[in-house]
Order: sequence, then structure tokens, then C-alpha cells
Amino acid sequence: MKHFVYILISYFLLMACGPQERVSKEVFDKVNSSMEAKRLSEAQIIQEAMVWGDSISTEAQQQLMSNLHQAVEESGFTGALDFCSVNAASITKAVSDRYKISIRRTSFRARNQNNLPNEPESQILEAYQYNAENGIVSEPNIQKINNGDTLLYTKAIIIPSEFCLNCHGNPETQIDKAVLEKVDSLYPGDLARDFEVGDLRGMWSLKIPKKAVVNRL
Ligand code: HEC
Repeated sequence: MKHFVYILISYFLLMACGPQERVSKEVFDKVNSSMEAKRLSEAQIIQEAMVWGDSISTEAQQQLMSNLHQAVEESGFTGALDFCSVNAASITKAVSDRYKISIRRTSFRARNQNNLPNEPESQILEAYQYNAENGIVSEPNIQKINNGDTLLYTKAIIIPSEFCLNCHGNPETQIDKAVLEKVDSLYPGDLARDFEVGDLRGMWSLKIPKKAVVNRL
């Protein structure tokens, strides 16, 4: 009889342990995965956002350039004015639809006044400007915004060649009269002239939600 009671008690103990063990494993897994997410957020998320930001901005830049060159070939600089907008690049729409990443170019000397910098962008642009004036190469940058929920990726845009000066150079000597007239009528507040090769033109600015980076990893 004593034996039987022992067996009965151990049976109940086992029964009690079984489900409990399963629950605690679930809790353990949950804690573990959130810890993993936390660990990722500090180092890997930023690293990944940097790689991702680099590749998106490079692709957008390439698309923009190939659209622009093609438009210039087909219809000259006047006809190509519509093709210097970021929205002309399909990558912009693809990443914003799919990952809710916003992508734009911003500049203190903007042609399109919607491209003037906002508060966090201004500070970074100032640093890029300082670097450009002092011969220091600016590296891409990642900064936390929105209480850390979003990462702001930025990359300096330097005027690479005289090609750009057909629309952003000296209005008397480098920008064709017809181009200038169209620029003036489309962009009354235009500040994007008188640039030289090597000048800081502006920067790429990408808002990347941290969640999108985590989901991607
Ligand atoms: C055919 C004329 C043309 C050429 C060539 C051109 N751009 Fe532009 N650029 C424009 C126009 C027009 C805008 C305004 C686009 C918009 O409405 O967003 C612009 C806007 C920009 C902007 C966004 C900030 C702002 O001023 O609104 C940057 C950065 C820029 N251009 C850089 C360049 C660089 C670098 C080159 C050379 C590789 C270049 N552009 C060549 C016409 C041109």
C-alpha cells in the first residue's frame, strides 16, 4: 500500500511537471528571442542598416543617372530637367512600398524647396559641409530618430563631374539659356546653381524602420 501511494504521488508529480515544463520552455524561448532581438538592435541592426542603406542609395543613384543621361541624349538638358527627381527611380517606390523606407536627397542649396533639410538632416549636412571644406572624406552615417525606432541613413553627394554643371553650374557660363529659363519657371526659389566639381551638393537621406531591418535578418 505504502508503495502504491509513492507511485501515485510520483505519478501526480510527473503530471504536474509535464505541462509546466512545456510552459516554461515557451517562456524561455520568448525571453531568449527577445534578448536576441535586443542584442541585434545594438550592433547588428545598425551594421545591417548601413549595408542596406548603402545598397539602396547606390542603386537609386545609378538609376537616376542612367535615366538622366538617356534623357539628355534624347532631348537635351532642357528636356531632361524632369529626370533629376528621385521619384523617377523605380527603386524608390519599391523600397517605400515594401519596407516603408523613405528615400530622398536633401541640400541646403536645393533646387526643389521640398528638398531642404529637416532638423536631424541639417546637423549631419553641416558636418558633411565642414568635411568638404576641410578636405575630409565624409563616411555614410546612421543616426537613431523617432525614439530609436527608425534609423536615419545619410550619404554625402559630391558633384562628380562637369556633366552636373550643365544644370547646377554658373548660370552665365555653364547653364544654357533655355535650361535656365525652364529652371526658373519650374523652380522659382532655386538655390542649386554656382556649384563646382568636388563641391558638396547634398546628401542621400533614408529613413529605415528598425523593424524592417530585424524582419530582414
Ligand atoms: C538636366 C539638368 C540636371 C542635371 C544634368 C543634373 N541635375 Fe540635379 N537637379 C535637377 C533638377 C531639375 C532638380 C530638382 C529635382 C526635384 O524636383 O526633386 C535637381 C535636384 C538635384 C538634387 C536634389 C536637391 C535639390 O537641389 O533639389 C541633387 C542632390 C542633385 N540634383 C544633384 C545632381 C548631380 C550630382 C548631378 C550630376 C551627376 C546633377 N544633379 C545633374 C537638374 C539636373
